Amino acid sequence: MQDLESVRAKNLAAIAAAVDEVALEALRVAVLGKKGEISLMMRVLGQMTPIERQTAGAPLNALKDEINSALVARKAALADLDLARRLETEWLDVTLSPRPLQQGTLHPVSQVTEEVIAIFADLGFKVAEGPQIETDWYNFDALNIPPEHPARQEMDTFYMARAEGDDRPPNVLRTHTSPVQIRYMAEHGAPCRIIAPGRVYRCDYDQTHTPMFHQVEGLAIDRGISMANLKWVLEEFCRAFFEIEGVELRFRASHFPFTEPSAEVDIRCSWVGGQLKIGEGDDWMEILGSGMVHPKVLEAAGVDSTVFQGFAFGMGIDRIAMLKYGIPDLRAFFDSDLRWLRHYGFATLDMPTIHGGLSA
Ligand code: PHE
Repeated sequence: MQDLESVRAKNLAAIAAAVDEVALEALRVAVLGKKGEISLMMRVLGQMTPIERQTAGAPLNALKDEINSALVARKAALADLDLARRLETEWLDVTLSPRPLQQGTLHPVSQVTEEVIAIFADLGFKVAEGPQIETDWYNFDALNIPPEHPARQEMDTFYMARAEGDDRPPNVLRTHTSPVQIRYMAEHGAPCRIIAPGRVYRCDYDQTHTPMFHQVEGLAIDRGISMANLKWVLEEFCRAFFEIEGVELRFRASHFPFTEPSAEVDIRCSWVGGQLKIGEGDDWMEILGSGMVHPKVLEAAGVDSTVFQGFAFGMGIDRIAMLKYGIPDLRAFFDSDLRWLRHYGFATLDMPTIHGGLSA
């Protein structure tokens, strides 16, 4: 039998020196495991006489218990050490200021759309909407533009593809917001007073044209409406929108298949050194088309043209945004250039209201 005291000293020292749980477990197996040092000594007890066993057994059992306790205690101590180390390294400074949040801006088109809605809401116009993919009937026929009418070519229409063998006429990306007139009157009848802002599409691209742009349609149908009402509403709108004393409008006789008579409206502006300024100079920028709704259009939408009449207009939202905020190139509206957006964008809480003022 080995010297118990040296077994004890050696193992207690090894336990005290164990640096982690893995080392501790290896030690336990080496001492108390099936073939461990103490277990083997226990086996020797079996070959002794009962008297010998009594004297040798008690100190061996005591040593076994002592080593067991030392293992348990060291394990707890290692766990405490580990926790202390984590507390030391994984601390969090809750007094630090948070990372700055990226803040976006409202696109001028969104801002101007809200401004337009606010002004027309004040004049009693509701907002209506229609689909951007239209049938040729809503986009053309119902608006008194029959299939062979030159206006279909003039509009630079984008046609949608049909499946092979499907010979219905192709749908189109709406070329204007006027089909919403038909949809609204067909559903709600007359009298009515609506505006319909939204995206429209034409195959065209230069400083003042992009293939997708925004229009707002206006429609007022009732008994006894005249061109005078149209003129007043548009002048009232421009005064409120541009907030410039003496904004100069030019009504030009024009032609649209869906209005009779028709007028286009231009605003006086100047382009000097790439700067666009409104209300001065010798240039005119066209901002809208308008007129008295053609009886055929009323009939196509199921409204009795012998009882009701009214006016309609279609205004370029991007155009009036360029004029109001002095943005010289329309193409930049749709470039998604963050520097441009930071320069021309609006704070999100800067929502236009009639009572609070339309812009900062
Ligand atoms: N739809 C016409 C256009 O896009 C504008 C317009 C609308 C003209 C309503 C008259 C009446 O050019």
